[in-house]
Amino acid sequence: MRAFHASLPDYAPTPLRELPAVAAELGVGRVFVKDESHRLGLPAFKALGASWAVHRILAERAARGAAPGVLTLVTATDGNHGRAVARMARRLGQRAHVFVPQGVHPRAVAAIAAEQARVTQVEGTYDEAVALAARAGAGADAVLVQDTAWPGYEQIPGWIVEGYSTLCAETDEQLAAAGIAGPDLVCVPVGVGSLAQAVITHYRSRPAGGGPALLSVEPRAAACVLRSLARGLPLSIATGHTAMAGLNCGTPSSIAWPHLSGGLDAAVAVSDADSARAARTLAGAGISSGPCGAASLAGLRSVLTGAGAGQRRAALGLGPASVVVLLSTEGTAANPHARLGQDGPDAS
Ligand SMILES: Cc1ncc(COP(=O)(O)O)c(C=O)c1O
Repeated sequence: MRAFHASLPDYAPTPLRELPAVAAELGVGRVFVKDESHRLGLPAFKALGASWAVHRILAERAARGAAPGVLTLVTATDGNHGRAVARMARRLGQRAHVFVPQGVHPRAVAAIAAEQARVTQVEGTYDEAVALAARAGAGADAVLVQDTAWPGYEQIPGWIVEGYSTLCAETDEQLAAAGIAGPDLVCVPVGVGSLAQAVITHYRSRPAGGGPALLSVEPRAAACVLRSLARGLPLSIATGHTAMAGLNCGTPSSIAWPHLSGGLDAAVAVSDADSARAARTLAGAGISSGPCGAASLAGLRSVLTGAGAGQRRAALGLGPASVVVLLSTEGTAANPHARLGQDGPDAS
């Protein structure tokens, strides 16, 4: 995966930045942010998955001897994934058709259209947009490139998860360069759980076992993984409104679920105000972080402070020397809702 991504024109490892003031605030040793505000020419991590999946799709078709011709890559999106698929389609001379649910900022929709994609706006939720995309993706010369799986549709979402692993590999190298063997806690923003699946697979596949504690962070308006974990089975929930558009998903990915249920140590839901405050903290440290990206810091704060924090720290094995990695999965440019978070206290 690293070699593939490294072969792409815009590839460079994204920075791992340190936040000493947050470490002091929260009483841990060191806090780092994996800053995905510039990734493969786009303002979110998503192109890591879309680029690898589209590459695999085209390579498999060529290997099968499929007639050459222009394909339509179809997907549904809360913003970032659709833009990444549209960018790959444009670059590789294919077409893209992107279904966008309600609640995605008009400028995020415009950014997808600017990649020359056909955009269909859906008067419904993300889950409803996915259902429409699945139908369109079954058409002639079309292929569904969705970043969530369900029974019978697993291979392409699996490739997308594989693509995300580059982010973890880079983090390992960057921590090692800082003289750190590995993190003690990693905080992951979660929509359908594909990114979390990649993170869990990475840290739970070590022959020596161990690895950091893993925390999933969702919006209160769309905490499908938290609710599923509490019930012990994957649930579809009704979602509400949130500035964390990329996390506004009602159903965990079917291939992510076994990893989420077995591999997460903790899950938390945060409010838009929590995420906006975290975005302001990160902006103060010079890091551009949209509402989904800043959710990681909001989740960390929520777990490490307030009533019961001592027990939660102990349960996660955290102490004053612990190393925390926050995945900041998008910059403010990915999701203009972020500006709400910078305009005033709890503006969103
Ligand atoms: C910026 C951002 N962060 C995190 C996520 C969550 O990823 P997943 O849906 O794989 O859980 C998304 C998904 O769209 C996203 O756009």
